[in-house]
Amino acid sequence: MSEVAVERLSNDKAFKVIFVLGGPGSGKGTQCAKIAKHYGFTHLSVGDLLRAEINSGSNNGTMIESMINEGKIVPSEVTIKLLQRAMRESGNDKFLIDGFPRNEENRASFENLEKIEPEFVLFFDCPEEEMERRILNRNQGRDDDNMETIRKRFKVFIESTLPVIEFYNLKGKLYKIDACKPADEVFEDVKAIFSRFRAKNITLLQFSLSII
Ligand code: ADP
Ligand code: C5P
Ligand code: MG
Repeated sequence: MSEVAVERLSNDKAFKVIFVLGGPGSGKGTQCAKIAKHYGFTHLSVGDLLRAEINSGSNNGTMIESMINEGKIVPSEVTIKLLQRAMRESGNDKFLIDGFPRNEENRASFENLEKIEPEFVLFFDCPEEEMERRILNRNQGRDDDNMETIRKRFKVFIESTLPVIEFYNLKGKLYKIDACKPADEVFEDVKAIFSRFRAKNITLLQFSLSII
């Protein structure tokens, strides 16, 4: 990746962003693919962006690879540049950002830099035993899908990501979804949330117009 200074992307246009969170193997990628297709969002999995960066032979590749293999969270300085590039290249203005913000540092850095608040945050809630089963069956050749790294990733999720989820809960931006059901049933619940969010915004708009 070229070493350009970090610049704000959202100077150019107004972006609509939805963050998608959940433990490893909870089904974020599976649901994002359905949401993207159904609602016209660009799906950006930060894990996928990091893996592509390793495969591109970038200078950061070795550092990223060792962090992923330890289940650690890569510094935002790296992930945000990858996200910005992917957002710019997509040409879209509606993004599902999957697997981000993974910790407080991710959250604060993105918000401070881009001044973008997510419209809302989806949280795919799934018990560890089910996530473990799904990851061990995933078969995508990922080096971090082994029992030793899975345990580390669960620990990082609880210690670093759950506080971010709680942050958005306190802001009234969190929609928690039972991700334990079959994928099509989970997607029905996702669609219900999109309808509820739209209805809530129409009501708010009508209310603000009525008091003008
Ligand atoms: P994440 O992106 O959260 O790590 P994925 O979408 O990659 O999760 O899903 C992990 C694995 O579980 C994949 O093999 C996927 O096909 C499978 N999977 C996803 N959602 C479900 C579901 N609701 N029920 C059963 N298996 C699922
Ligand atoms: O989301 P996914 O499971 O694909 O992420 C794989 C790994 O990528 C994480 O365990 C972590 O090491 C890294 N990652 C990160 N920062 C993010 C998202 C993913 O460091 N925001
Ligand atoms: Mg994923």
